[in-house]
Amino acid sequence: MEETIEKILRKYPAGKKDSLIPLLQDIQREAGHLSDNSILEVSRYMNIPLNKIYGVASFYDQFKFRKKGRYHLQICHGTACHIYRSSLFQAEIEKTLQVKAGQTTKDGRFSLDVVNCLGACSSAPTLFINETPYGNLTLEHLQKILSEIKDTND
Ligand code: FES
Repeated sequence: MEETIEKILRKYPAGKKDSLIPLLQDIQREAGHLSDNSILEVSRYMNIPLNKIYGVASFYDQFKFRKKGRYHLQICHGTACHIYRSSLFQAEIEKTLQVKAGQTTKDGRFSLDVVNCLGACSSAPTLFINETPYGNLTLEHLQKILSEIKDTND
């Protein structure tokens, strides 16, 4: 892991503060999250205080501070999805996979995030599992999807 961070850091000139966001994006993409250790390394390399980096990273939804599950579920609560009672879908996911919004299961299989819009409003209500969108979701369809991912050996 440290090698990955080092490799990413070397792509950017030390201390060039304009590079902070692309650098964090690279770490997020490679590692799946920004660990405390990676933020510490960035802070030393870029000579930017830790609290400033946490401040920047917290501002953007794209940055996550915890490792996502192998199945990363994102349920949308934007206006279009909310109309279709997306909170019921969230409750079903939480109950079936035993994971709360903002958390990852202890075995690292499932994580759940609530987001404001997935850019697929015309297919509301919408769920993403990793990069795969599931639109026009019904409770029955959701239960089938959850049952499939729950029963795989991944
Ligand atoms: S509001 Fe849910 S995808 Fe846009």
